[in-house]
Amino acid sequence: MSLLIEFLEFIELPPGEPVSKLLSRVLLKSRQITNAEAGTFFVQHGRGAHRKLEASSLQNDRVRLKSAGFVIPVTTSSIAGYVATTGETVIINDLYAIPPGRSYSFNQAFDQATGYRSRSMLCFPLQNHVGEVIGVVQLLNRRLPGRDQPVPFTRDQVDLIGPINHIVGTAIERAQMVDRVHLQNKRLRERARLLTEQRSRIEALQDETEDAFQISIRLLARAAELHDEDTGNHILRTNEYSYFLAKCLDMPVDFCDEIRYSAQLHDVGKMSVDAAVLKKRGGLSSQERDEMNRHPYYGYKILSASDRLRMAAEIAYCHHEKWDGTGYPRKLRGDDIPLSARIVQIADIYDALRSERPYKPAFSHERVVAIITKGDDRIEPRAHFDPRLIDLFAANHEGMERVWRELADPSGAVVASVAQHA
Ligand SMILES: [Fe+2]
Ligand SMILES: [Fe+2]
Repeated sequence: MSLLIEFLEFIELPPGEPVSKLLSRVLLKSRQITNAEAGTFFVQHGRGAHRKLEASSLQNDRVRLKSAGFVIPVTTSSIAGYVATTGETVIINDLYAIPPGRSYSFNQAFDQATGYRSRSMLCFPLQNHVGEVIGVVQLLNRRLPGRDQPVPFTRDQVDLIGPINHIVGTAIERAQMVDRVHLQNKRLRERARLLTEQRSRIEALQDETEDAFQISIRLLARAAELHDEDTGNHILRTNEYSYFLAKCLDMPVDFCDEIRYSAQLHDVGKMSVDAAVLKKRGGLSSQERDEMNRHPYYGYKILSASDRLRMAAEIAYCHHEKWDGTGYPRKLRGDDIPLSARIVQIADIYDALRSERPYKPAFSHERVVAIITKGDDRIEPRAHFDPRLIDLFAANHEGMERVWRELADPSGAVVASVAQHA
């Protein structure tokens, strides 16, 4: 029993050590207690007819177990295979004189290749708690002091090893399981790392796509603006006023973000208006006015092709409608006019009034606030705008002024057309 404890103490390893370390200790200790000169450890892999024994041995008595580089099938024609198949312990006094009637034979190839002379052998199985063989220990050439030649292993030694078999086998199986869990964890960690990497690549791609989208619609808005009149930062300011008003209105984040890039596209439809009409100086005939007033519809047709521009399309379509139903092109009234368009309408008019145009000077903030809240000879606020938005504008007009200042046009901006804006 003391030998068993000694054995177990020797092979005990801190948790997490690789199974190969445990196997090498088992082999080393087995050799020590039997005075074996050499030894091989066979680990069994696979199941049923596919069972194989992979050989490992201790190199130069180091504690590291190294693969011996060969695998044998589990059949009774080899000694280790016989032990693995039957679960029996085998003692052979001279490998070159195996008694007749045994199913196995000794493969002399190793001896012939190395000049080593194998003689006595002790080969025993390691079994798990339910008796399944998980490996085979093969000890070679028992040496005793003062004896030139190896001597046979004894039955006493088999009896010493007997109790070790199951306990060691179970310990090995547990270590193998821990090894497998570690391997599995490692694979899972690697997989998680790859997924994280993939996710950040997708996010980067999405960012790039979003940037490309924002640039495209800015260019579209800018192109439409240049087609009509160069109004400097008008489109950028319209985005920001609209965003500001939507936030004052406590609209959801998605709505605020969407109006912030959609507002700039309100006049995109002017690209489709007959250039002769768009650039005409002086008054328009009623036919020409009709063509000009089609720009909301043209804008809607251009923008409604994309799902992401749904709000932009409704803004383009409805930014000239009026609260009392006297606007164009569909004479919508009240809440039938989308909120986004009602917001952009105030933003657009605030900026047009603040800006210098060929047909008017730039107005001060105070004057524009007065026009939008109280009206003038052209604008009747309560008839034109959503009354709720007039009140919202009146309460927050400093924010509009702030946007105007932050995105002011560089001095000397060219203003080059007579087209009426609002
Ligand atoms: Fe317009
Ligand atoms: Fe505008």
